[in-house]
Amino acid sequence: MEKLRNLFRETRLDKESLIMPVFVDENLSSPMEIPSMPDYYRIPVDSIGDEIGKAMELGIKAFILFGIPKHKDEIGSSAFDSNGVIQKALKNARREFEDAVLITDICLCEYTTHGHCGVVKGEEILNDATLPILQKIALSHAESGADIVAPSGMMDGMVKAIRDALDENGFENTAIMSYSAKYASSFYGPFREAADSGFKFGDRKSYQMDIHNSDEALREVELDLKEGADIVMVKPALSYLDILRRVKETFKVPLAAYNVSGEYSMVKAVSKAGWLDEMSIIYEILTSIKRAGADLIITYHAKQIAEVL
Ligand code: PBG
Repeated sequence: MEKLRNLFRETRLDKESLIMPVFVDENLSSPMEIPSMPDYYRIPVDSIGDEIGKAMELGIKAFILFGIPKHKDEIGSSAFDSNGVIQKALKNARREFEDAVLITDICLCEYTTHGHCGVVKGEEILNDATLPILQKIALSHAESGADIVAPSGMMDGMVKAIRDALDENGFENTAIMSYSAKYASSFYGPFREAADSGFKFGDRKSYQMDIHNSDEALREVELDLKEGADIVMVKPALSYLDILRRVKETFKVPLAAYNVSGEYSMVKAVSKAGWLDEMSIIYEILTSIKRAGADLIITYHAKQIAEVL
């Protein structure tokens, strides 16, 4: 009987669990659809209020902001410019929406000419030289109104470096969501077009995790928690439901899953072809991510699913 089936349901998908990604592009004056992510848009800095307002009306409360800057250089200096794309977007959004949870991605890849997540020397990614830059970015986001900063570059020691910088400057209450177990996945392809963050040489394998490993994810999460992460993340989500489950059972801490761009684009492609029912598979996918153990889900389907929840 349907009413009893609902009563005994173990997993419930709710709007409170959703985090909506927002791509803010400093070069735009009107929204631009991302070709590899049908129905998803980059928006101009001035549109952030509208975008967040519409989503909040649907019941979405949390947002993660990605910036596409006008200026790129070797060290990604526009990422910590107090007048940079994310800083401006944060101030706009904060002015209009005091209760929106504003999260910012902390990474260099959208801001560097080479497109890597750290500073480079030749073809080598310099972990330690990247940390002071991440500190500056986190601090400038906190100053502009971010509630949570989310370092995504998988540099060793990034969480501690950012925690220290925030605490020393009076931002003890700014939380950290770390992309702790981020795999060197092929599912990020469409994002690189969305955020204009493709790299010019090499790959991300020196800093992102080997897809064949699972124990290593637990070690990464443990380190980030020791360094002060408030929320840990597994990314991507769908091919890594086992990792979500292990992390949740081992640590019992707030856990986010990133339902990444490639997962979104697959759903869109198959739905447009008419081969699967779009809303049903979105619901099933997001439910599976929750059932696996995620408390929070970053998803490009946020608005779509919020409309039906
Ligand atoms: C930046 C970053 C990436 C994603 C989120 N932050 C890309 C990458 O690591 O190459 C991917 C998100 C997605 O695919 O939806 N480091």
